[in-house]
This record gives sequence, C-alpha cells and structure tokens, in this order.
Amino acid sequence: MSGAGNLVAIYPGSFDPVTLGHEDIVQRTLCVADRVVVAVAHSSTQSKRQLFSVEERVRLLQEVFQDEARVECTSFEGLLVDFARARGARFMIRGLRAVSDFEYEFQMAQMNRQLWPGAETLFLMPDVSYAFLSSSLVREVAVLGGDISRFVSPLVARGIRRKLENHRRAEE
Ligand code: PNS
Repeated sequence: MSGAGNLVAIYPGSFDPVTLGHEDIVQRTLCVADRVVVAVAHSSTQSKRQLFSVEERVRLLQEVFQDEARVECTSFEGLLVDFARARGARFMIRGLRAVSDFEYEFQMAQMNRQLWPGAETLFLMPDVSYAFLSSSLVREVAVLGGDISRFVSPLVARGIRRKLENHRRAEE
C-alpha cells in the first residue's frame, strides 16, 4: 500500500469512548499507511446511547494520539465516502474482532463501494486480547461501577469517571 509516501487512510467510527482495541488498530494502520485520519461520525451516534459528545470524543482521541505525528483526529457529518473523497483518501480501515462483526462490516463496505467505486475498505484484526472489547461494553461496565482500567488508556478512564460523576451530581 505504501510507497508514494502520502497514503492516507480513514479510520471511521463512533469511538464512544476510544478503547485499547481502537488504539491497536491505529498502530497497525500506521504500519501500512503514511497517515491515519481517525474520524468520529456524527450520524452514527443518534440511535445509540451516548456517553461523550462528538466533540469530547475527538478531544479524547487527540489526547490519546498526541505523540503520534501521523495521526489526525477529527469528526465528520454526512456520508463517510463523501468525507473520505474530500480528504483524497480512498482507503477506509475497519477493525474485525470476530466473525460476528463480519455481516455488518460486509454490508457497509459493499454499500460504500456502491456509493464510491473507488473506495476500498481494509479490515485489520486487533490483538486477540481485544477480541471481546467494545465501546458499548466499556460504557456499561463503567456505568455499573466496574474496573475499566484494562480496556481504555488512563486518560480515557479519567474522562469517563469525571463524566459519570457529573451525571450523578446532576441527578442529585
Ligand atoms: O463504530 P461504529 O459505530 O461501528 O462506526 C460506524 C460508522 C461510523 C463507520 C458508520 O456508521 C458510518 O460510516 N457512518 C457515517 C454515515 C454513512 O456513511 N453511512 C453509510 C455507511 S454504509
């Protein structure tokens, strides 16, 4: 994939919050692409229960990857393919944890290809130790008082604790 020195890959998702599994995928992407744009989607969040706003998620991602000069963290509205095309990036990265991810990912990749025939979705597998990990489970464990320190970076864990404390205070 690399060679021209300017291969940009888009890694889209909800990232609510970014987990160690996502971080693993970004590191793997950096092995095959020159730059990675980690892109938080506005639209995909509407139907899910959110913990962080899109702006907060981008900020957490920027902090997590602050030492990675080749990683940019941002958000986008509308279709992923439109965002990718505007950025001149035809490669989209998705993590595949298990067979259960496949059907959803297959549909999305094929739909994106219909929308933009130039689009290519590349699937990367995270380390097997993250095969069970998802943002929604991290949110659930955190809300129910479980230890999430093995699943997210320390600054994300702090952000989650602060957010939940604020929620509790607001409810009092
Ligand atoms: O982390 P997620 O929630 O599995 O990521 C899903 C995401 C953001 C990649 C997907 O919902 C998306 O691409 N949303 C942007 C809107 C879009 O292009 N929809 C059509 C996808 S085929």
